[in-house]
Amino acid sequence: MQIRIYVIMFSCFLFSNARANTIETVSSPDHNISFRVLSLPSGQNQFRLAYEIDYKQLPVIKTSGLSFILKSPDVNLVNFTVTDKIKSSVNEDWQPVWGEMKTIHNEYNQLLLKLKTDKDILIHLIVRVYNDGAGFRFEFPQQPNLTHFILEDEKTQFAMAGNHQVFWIPGDYDSNEFAYSHTLLSEIDASKSGAANEIFAKTFFDKNAVQTPLMMKTNNNLYINIHEAALRNYPAMNLVLDKSNLCFTSHLVPDAVGNKAYLMAPTVTPWRTIVVSDKATDILASKMILNLNDPSVIQDPSWIKPQKMIGVWWEMHVGIASWDYSGGQVGSQQKIKVPHGANTANVKKYIDFASKNGIDAVLVEGWNTGWEDWFGQWKENVFDFVTPYPDFNIDEISAYAKMKGVKMIMHHETSASVTNYERQMDTAYRFMKKYGYDAVKTGYVGKIIPRGEHHDGQWMVNHFERVLKKTASYKIMVDAHEPVRPTGLHRTYPNFLACEAARGNEFNAWSIGNMPDHETILPFTRLMGGPMDYTPGIFKIKMSYYNPEKKEQVHTTLTKQLALYVTMYSPLQMAADLPENYEAKPDAFQFIKDVAVDWDDTKILQAEPGDYIIIARKAKNSNNWFLGAITDEQARTFNTSLSFLDADKKYIATIYRDADDASWNNNPEAYKIEKYIVDHKTNLKLKLAPGGGTAIGFMPANTVDLKQFKKYKMK
Ligand code: NOJ
Ligand code: CA
Repeated sequence: MQIRIYVIMFSCFLFSNARANTIETVSSPDHNISFRVLSLPSGQNQFRLAYEIDYKQLPVIKTSGLSFILKSPDVNLVNFTVTDKIKSSVNEDWQPVWGEMKTIHNEYNQLLLKLKTDKDILIHLIVRVYNDGAGFRFEFPQQPNLTHFILEDEKTQFAMAGNHQVFWIPGDYDSNEFAYSHTLLSEIDASKSGAANEIFAKTFFDKNAVQTPLMMKTNNNLYINIHEAALRNYPAMNLVLDKSNLCFTSHLVPDAVGNKAYLMAPTVTPWRTIVVSDKATDILASKMILNLNDPSVIQDPSWIKPQKMIGVWWEMHVGIASWDYSGGQVGSQQKIKVPHGANTANVKKYIDFASKNGIDAVLVEGWNTGWEDWFGQWKENVFDFVTPYPDFNIDEISAYAKMKGVKMIMHHETSASVTNYERQMDTAYRFMKKYGYDAVKTGYVGKIIPRGEHHDGQWMVNHFERVLKKTASYKIMVDAHEPVRPTGLHRTYPNFLACEAARGNEFNAWSIGNMPDHETILPFTRLMGGPMDYTPGIFKIKMSYYNPEKKEQVHTTLTKQLALYVTMYSPLQMAADLPENYEAKPDAFQFIKDVAVDWDDTKILQAEPGDYIIIARKAKNSNNWFLGAITDEQARTFNTSLSFLDADKKYIATIYRDADDASWNNNPEAYKIEKYIVDHKTNLKLKLAPGGGTAIGFMPANTVDLKQFKKYKMK
């Protein structure tokens, strides 16, 4: 099969500002950011429309071109005349169904610029400038000369003002499960990234291409994040760097014949987003991408519940159980036969554990027929979603879960045979409802069918939205694995609790794993688009525990695994380890039982991408606060103010910290738990081991606590 891939190199010209005309300037409400829309002279330029962004007078995006190429009708939308300019402002608050805070502030200045281009085609550019960044999108309004059309390309440039530090993964059409590289822009090279010689080694479409969310830091300490918002009916955007002038140009994921999108006017493109600040903490606090998404379409969201789950899952990843009935292991690294994990007795054990410990739900993978020959097969009809293996008694399990007050989460591994899944969705969701399941974990491992489509192309972007719509109509919540990277669509579809779209904790079980800085990068990159099902909470750090020959390990300490419940935001959190590993350490497991999954408030206290993150969050409808602090491979000590606590209360702080001799590689499971009385004036000294972390629960103290525990004093 031949895949036609267009790699048109549009180099960024050195635009001369003296010759550019400012069409309009839009400033942020606080005047720190200014976004200029420019017209460039015709002649040598391949772009006529351009833009620039400054933050506190420092260049964020230098003169960068904007253009579209349509294939049918055949038109290059370069030349234009301005027909109208309309400015407006919005200043409002709204409340998400669930989230990091109760109320989200949405305040921006907008420009609607109406353009007439070649062949009298009308295009609108919409720019919104917030205090934390800017977003812009194009609209093809209803018009006589353009009805349905094929998009050959969008050329949106992002010209960088210097050779910034950058946290990147290679550009790709199908996966984002790569280790991050931290280099200078000039050093981006997919062929030299870890991803090129890893477990799923692959070659990339362009060695200068990267994915978004892309995180950068400039020499003058500006933090810049480029991504997109409201990706719907359109392919995802990669960015290709022209190293001669440090300018990125968009590269949309193509379909099987190289087209980018099939569109009908009226339509809009996704927002191109640039979050910027001189404080790293502001990047993590930004709600701009959510603000740029449409409000919820679910009228009655009362059935949508943030939750914790455990799962018949990690035992397969560590190689002591199997998904398939016959006991074979994926990839056959495992010679010995292992038991089938999803058997009724084992599932009941998990239900008992969940019920006893206040865990809301149990996920079971490998419950349905098909796991014998699904992996890497590119077959049409591997799975159905209604036929349990003979040892998975769904009647008995559902009745037992109901009796124990535990919800079940169903797993739909599509093996990327999406046409097969599309045909069976209604049947599958009806089956789920019949047995009382109201959440599904979907999976898209492998190459997509229809053949030639990609995980991140327009067809799949539409599939993922179809799943969200259809599941919503059945009141089913979704956790998608191997989806397109998220762009804030969980505002519109709050049943979209979480997704993967990055390298999760599971890589630590069977590959070189995630280096200790990985979790300090993810919130600045992948999580900018939405919650991640990272699956934290691994207590048995070294895989040699399961098999002496295994060298793999989780690259954190145990208490860093606890801190991830706070630093890695998600309304769906897994307690990913085996019940017996939690039963062996009930004192540490207490934090996982206590920690909330939905929040009234969030404070990003201290952060630096690739180094450390400290976040405090206030639980929903509660006076309890939780804090997570994580570091990379370096030991770090922080002096952290608790000024976020309510001024009129004393709290009992339960501190889960690394033991003094702990480190991710030598002594990862060593921890200490301490309790102190604290208040909003307390400064805590947090000592994090190499690859370590601290997790803290703060509960209002009662008179008994005040007598029993000492006031915290810094040592
Ligand atoms: C990959 C997913 O990320 C993982 O969570 C799942 O267990 C396997 N696919 C099997 O579907
Ligand atoms: Ca995965």
